[in-house]
This record gives sequence, C-alpha cells and structure tokens, in this order.
Amino acid sequence: MSSVNTAIQLSVRGDSSTSTCGTDLAQGPWEFDLDAALQGVPSYGPGASLEDVAPATTPVQGQIPPEYKDASDAELDARIMAAKATLGDKVVILGHFYQRDEVIKYADFVGDSFQLANAAKAKQDAEAIVFCGVHFMAETADMLSTPEQAVILPNLAAGCSMADMADIESVEACWAQLEEVYGDLTATDAEGKVPVIPVTYMNSSAALKGFCGEHGGIVCTSSNAKTVLQWAFQRGRRVLFFPDQHLGRNTAKAMGVPLEQMPMWSPRKPWGGTDEKTLQDARVILWHGFCSVHRRFTVAQIEQARLNHQGVRVIVHPECPMPVVDAADESGSTDYIVKAIQAAPAGSTFAIGTEINLVNRLAAEYPQHTIFCLDPVICPCSTMYRIHPGYLAWVLESLVEGTVQNQISVPESTAVPARVALERMLAARP
Ligand code: 13P
Ligand code: SF4
Repeated sequence: MSSVNTAIQLSVRGDSSTSTCGTDLAQGPWEFDLDAALQGVPSYGPGASLEDVAPATTPVQGQIPPEYKDASDAELDARIMAAKATLGDKVVILGHFYQRDEVIKYADFVGDSFQLANAAKAKQDAEAIVFCGVHFMAETADMLSTPEQAVILPNLAAGCSMADMADIESVEACWAQLEEVYGDLTATDAEGKVPVIPVTYMNSSAALKGFCGEHGGIVCTSSNAKTVLQWAFQRGRRVLFFPDQHLGRNTAKAMGVPLEQMPMWSPRKPWGGTDEKTLQDARVILWHGFCSVHRRFTVAQIEQARLNHQGVRVIVHPECPMPVVDAADESGSTDYIVKAIQAAPAGSTFAIGTEINLVNRLAAEYPQHTIFCLDPVICPCSTMYRIHPGYLAWVLESLVEGTVQNQISVPESTAVPARVALERMLAARP
C-alpha cells in the first residue's frame, strides 16, 4: 500500500478515486509556514483541524532554507541518512504512530505518546532528541530528559488543536469558580478526599501539567486513562478532566459513572455553561475540547463497514465521540489498536477509527489481514503532517554543524510541578 502522502498526491492529480479533505495537503508544508509568517497568524494547516482556530500564541515555523524545500525525495533521503550516520548515538529520533511514513522510516523508536515519554526518559546518552510528533509531546520529552539533552521539534507549527483548546488562564478561571462552589479545594472530608482532582490528558501544554502537579492532580494518556481516573477517585470526590471531553466521557462511562454526573465545562461561558446544583452532583467535569481527527468518525461509517465486511472487527480510539465508541466492538489507544491487530488470527478484517497514517501503515505491515480506515476520506492530523523530511534534514544537518534548531525548552518553574504530575502518570501503568 502506498503512503498517505502518495495517496494524497494521486487523489489531487485525479489519478485515483479516493478523495482527500484538502487539496492543499499535496503542497509542501513550508507553503503554510510562509503564509503564517506573512500574515502573522498561526494556522494548523490543511488536514483534519483546518477549521480549528489556532490561538495567537501558537508557535509559527519560520522559513527553512530553500535547499531543503527544493531537494528531491532521494536527495533528502541521502542527506538524512548521512547526517544520522555522522551523529550516531548523539541523536535519537522519536516518531509518533501518526507521523507520515516518509519521516517514520528514520525513527529509532516509534510509539504512542506514553511509550515515547518513556523512551525520552530512557535515552539519556543522546545529546539531542528529535521528536517527530507534536509540540506537547516534545515538551514532555524535554521535561523527562536530562538538562544536558536538547529536544527538537522539526517544525514548530506541529502543535495539536485539541491541546490548544485548554489554556492555563481558562483552567485557572474554572478552578476559581469551582472553589466558590466546593469551598476550600485543599480541605479533605471524612474519607480523606478533596472536592476535586484535576486530570489533564497528555495532549495539553506543559503549563496545564504544571497546574495538575501543583493542585494534587495527574496526567493521563489514552492508554492509562482508566488507571488514572481510579487514582483520582481514591483521592477526590470528583475530577476536572481536560482538554478532551470524549476521552473523559468514554473512560468514566466505562467505569460506571452516569452521564448526568458528567457536566461539560465550556471555558467561555459563565460557570462553564452549567450550574451550581449540577456541579455539586458531578463526578467528572468535562472540558469542552475535542480532536478534529477523531471527531470525523461516525456511527454511519461503522454501519457501512459492517454491511460491506461480514465479521469485521471495529476498533476506535477513545477520542472518538461516545456514540461511535458505543457502536464499535472495542476502543483503545493507538498501542491497543496495534497490539489487537498483532494478536489477531490471519485473515481477520479490521475497520479502524484513528489517524490514517497509522491505519495505512498497519495495513501494509499486516498483509495477512484486511485493515481499513472507517473514514473513506484521506484526512490526516494537520499538525503531524507539517513535519516533512525537509525539516528533518534541516535539523539533523544543523546538528552536524553544531547548531540546535527548534529547541523545545520548558522553563523550570513550569517543569518542576509538571514533572510531579507526569511521574504520577508514569507510575500509573496502563
Ligand atoms: P496516543 O496517546 O494513543 O499516542 O494518542 C495521541 C494522540 O494525539 C491521539 O490523537
Ligand atoms: Fe491532536 Fe488530534 Fe492530532 Fe492527536 S490526532 S495530535 S489529538 S489534533
């Protein structure tokens, strides 16, 4: 099977019947860096989160030298391989499952956000960690690696629109309002529980992880969300879960929390758009955030897959809306999906609800199965897609010359409390 990028190019040229959600995807990502730099506004670029509004504080990638934009694929391949060989163990390249194949092929380690956080912590000998994922993952790697190590994000515009849906000012404002409802948020009741424990999804800024560390909270990933919620319920009467409403709702529902005890908190509305009585009864307060990639999956797609493929096994990521998770056979993190496919008997058929780069790679790696994406339209995660081999070649060749480009560095004042919440997460095994 061809890579997602090849499929997009064929689709845009009219050489295939598959459609893509944006013909702009066929262009070099630097076209959007240029746009952002010219207009002074950050954008997520084409792909699933194109419609999402990027906050003014979103990092903008400057233009990379023309030689990297003009180079052929073969030339970039030779340059990346040569730089990697020169740097040897001084550099480690980490790649998230959703990264494009043209970049993943250079990764020393490929995994989900939980595994990559552990990999960053384990690779203490490398002087530089080149993170081919998104901004919050690189921040986490910086906080878990040693102070001597430099973490590099090849394209600074590789953010996450969901992570940007919760910012520290809005979360602090929410916390202050919750204090008005529940009283002293540090006071424990007869069972030794505080009124509310903040839980942030890994897909959030370092500042929010720091907030959780400072307020008795914890970080979770999609692979350990249940363990983390259990941890939180042992310590608090309820949970404030941000930024992904869907992961929070799906996980808490599976643990038996009734939907009426999971009000939504919309950051721009007074009292989050809810009321005091509802907040008093709440077990999980869900932040109004979502992932535009996983929001594309629908129950109708699942019904179509079942109609077309008898015996199909439908697995979706828990960032999908609740009706989609309910209609699927299983839901789980990217690592769960990979392991389910690995363990299946040959000849199995899978319809998968997660990012297309991972689904297509799995289809290529496991030809003994039939594996396809529930969404018939090719619509990758916009921001992951901003990392192209040209940026990888640029950061690696710069390292060879002794220059660190695009370093992601979290200030210690944020990193110290954020590490507290992250270490709690790392201890909460999936
Ligand atoms: P994982 O935690 O499964 O790696 O997912 C990260 C992500 O960004 C999902 O959209
Ligand atoms: Fe963020 Fe969604 Fe992309 Fe994951 S897939 S990085 S949650 S926008």
